[in-house]
Amino acid sequence: MEKIVSLCKRRGFIYQSSEIYGGINGFWDYGPLGAELKRNVKELWWNTMTRQRDDVVGLEATIIMSPQIWKASGHVDTFADLMVECPVTNKRYRADQIEPQDGIVYYFKGAINMLPGEFGFIEGEKEEVEKYLKQKRELSELKKLGENLSASANPKEQKIGALILERVSLKTEINEPFSVLLPAGKPPEAAFVIAADFYEKRGMDCLWPIKSHTEKVVGDTRHNPENGAELTKPRPFNLMFKTYVGPVESEDNVAYLRPETAQAIFAQFKNVQETSRQKVPFGIAQVGKAFRNEVTPRNYTFRSREFEQMELEFFIKPDEVVEAIKGRVTPGAELDTRHSTLDTSSWGWEAWHKYWVEERIAFYEGIGLPRNTLVEYWQKPEELAHYARATVDILYKFPFSKRDEKGELTGEELEGIAARSDFDLSQHERFSGKPMGVFDEELRAAWGKLDEPRKTELSKRYYEARLKYLMKTGVEPAKAEKGAKEDADGLAKGQYIPHVIEPSAGVDRLILALICNAYHEDTMPDEKGKMETRVVLKFHPRVAPIKVAVLPLLKNKPELVKKAREVRDLLRPHMNVFYDDAGAIGRRYRRQDEAGTPFCVTIDFDTLGEKPELKDTVTMRYRDDGKQERLAIGELLTWLSPKIR
Ligand code: GAP
Repeated sequence: MEKIVSLCKRRGFIYQSSEIYGGINGFWDYGPLGAELKRNVKELWWNTMTRQRDDVVGLEATIIMSPQIWKASGHVDTFADLMVECPVTNKRYRADQIEPQDGIVYYFKGAINMLPGEFGFIEGEKEEVEKYLKQKRELSELKKLGENLSASANPKEQKIGALILERVSLKTEINEPFSVLLPAGKPPEAAFVIAADFYEKRGMDCLWPIKSHTEKVVGDTRHNPENGAELTKPRPFNLMFKTYVGPVESEDNVAYLRPETAQAIFAQFKNVQETSRQKVPFGIAQVGKAFRNEVTPRNYTFRSREFEQMELEFFIKPDEVVEAIKGRVTPGAELDTRHSTLDTSSWGWEAWHKYWVEERIAFYEGIGLPRNTLVEYWQKPEELAHYARATVDILYKFPFSKRDEKGELTGEELEGIAARSDFDLSQHERFSGKPMGVFDEELRAAWGKLDEPRKTELSKRYYEARLKYLMKTGVEPAKAEKGAKEDADGLAKGQYIPHVIEPSAGVDRLILALICNAYHEDTMPDEKGKMETRVVLKFHPRVAPIKVAVLPLLKNKPELVKKAREVRDLLRPHMNVFYDDAGAIGRRYRRQDEAGTPFCVTIDFDTLGEKPELKDTVTMRYRDDGKQERLAIGELLTWLSPKIR
């Protein structure tokens, strides 16, 4: 990672935000190459998810929205991480990110103040006492030290000895328990030093921590791995950034920077559906900034406080509706979702969920992340959000990912694909009082043709699902039953609240994955044929920030420069071209290798017709293996275009 971070800075992919002022933790800027890379990734996602499909449309909503949205979504009440704090350094950590540790816990019951009462220090004595205090740690040892010093012939030592004995005989003056975990083999003094720091923060200096006992522990997560100090109890910390709308900073004007782009899609669902004239199943896609006041931003850009998301909310019919119309729901297991002529009319949530997982994995493969660097992780039932029926996380094996017992990288989340039921639309319906359901003529017609037992069965299932939702969200039982009944009765009228499948990806995490995946070091001959190590970013040409570099062999030959500029201008309207005439050609190739440019076009004397049969041809040089071939200028565009799309 260190090499990658340094390359990103050196080549202008990623910089620390506000670097000249010492930076700001959890915020990152994208430099010239990073900005291009990011733009390419977002555009590829947008094209794949919206423009290439009939059933998805786009949205671009504001970052600040009505705070009611975040009440309805649950973010105001529950979007929190459990946080612990080190009482010595005041650093905060996410409770679930404390690495388990083994070792010995030193428990302290409090501390004695060693400052003199009736004695009073004279110049330099305090330091002298502290010097002794630093040497010995157990209370019994301290007592012994006091006795030895009292018996000394030196009057200064006698005084210190008496002071120590006086203090030892007193009760503890701070009775707050505290503990310190030390790895086996570390000298116990270290625990006393940390404990002294802890008690000193409670307003005392020159004090003596009183140890009560020790305990051997395995897999402990209650102590700070950096210094062993006992962490505070976990407490929730809401991750939303707060601000105020308008000139008055009062609770009435509180607003939040959106922590996800998804909620705007739900809030605008009816508008989009009506204006785009889409019918369920269909999706709404959005790319944009999201903000989370992460307790511990870490792993470079992986967990940032400001980041971008690419989210799709794909609205589908509830299974009961599909069954009413089609007679059955196609089980997910029966599906080959990569088949091009899919009949999706009998797909329920399981099939759609499987479909989107496979679509998204295919997307990642299509932009150059090999399948074996990705993990499809199915969340366990106990990990699922209460409204989710299933969630699959797509993980990428980052260099900083944890390793399993076989030493394999386990991967970190790039994207989550959740089957979120009708939770979000239902919440906005309840909180806004505006209907979020749809009318489906096909359902109304099909319902009329069902026999009574089938109607009863489907209504009952729909009723039970709605009742479960309403009860879980705190609606009182009588009201919940009434509401669920009305919802179930709506089926006969062709009405229902759509369910949703949500593929939600992070742009910045994907950029980091692409850079990690592209980073290679290899050896290649320099201009004199001597092997040298090179750093090369092997981006897929689709995402590469620069698609092609155009290089005149020599800068001081006007005919070469003129021709090279013509080639640049020929390609520039169609792709990002970089023109470079500075330095030896080998050095220029290396610079492009580090930028991840897949193709270099060199204009040389043959291009000008030195060998007549090569007139108007160029050298095409490949980044990955350094091989070269000649191509006619006239065919460059048709040759390059399919490779970068
Ligand atoms: N609407 C669902 C949602 O927001 P999430 O799992 O919290 O789900 C989705 O976020 C994606 O957003 C993640 O898979 C990740 O790629 C990205 N993401 C979340 N928090 C992030 C952070 N602090 N820094 C960078 N990316 C983040």
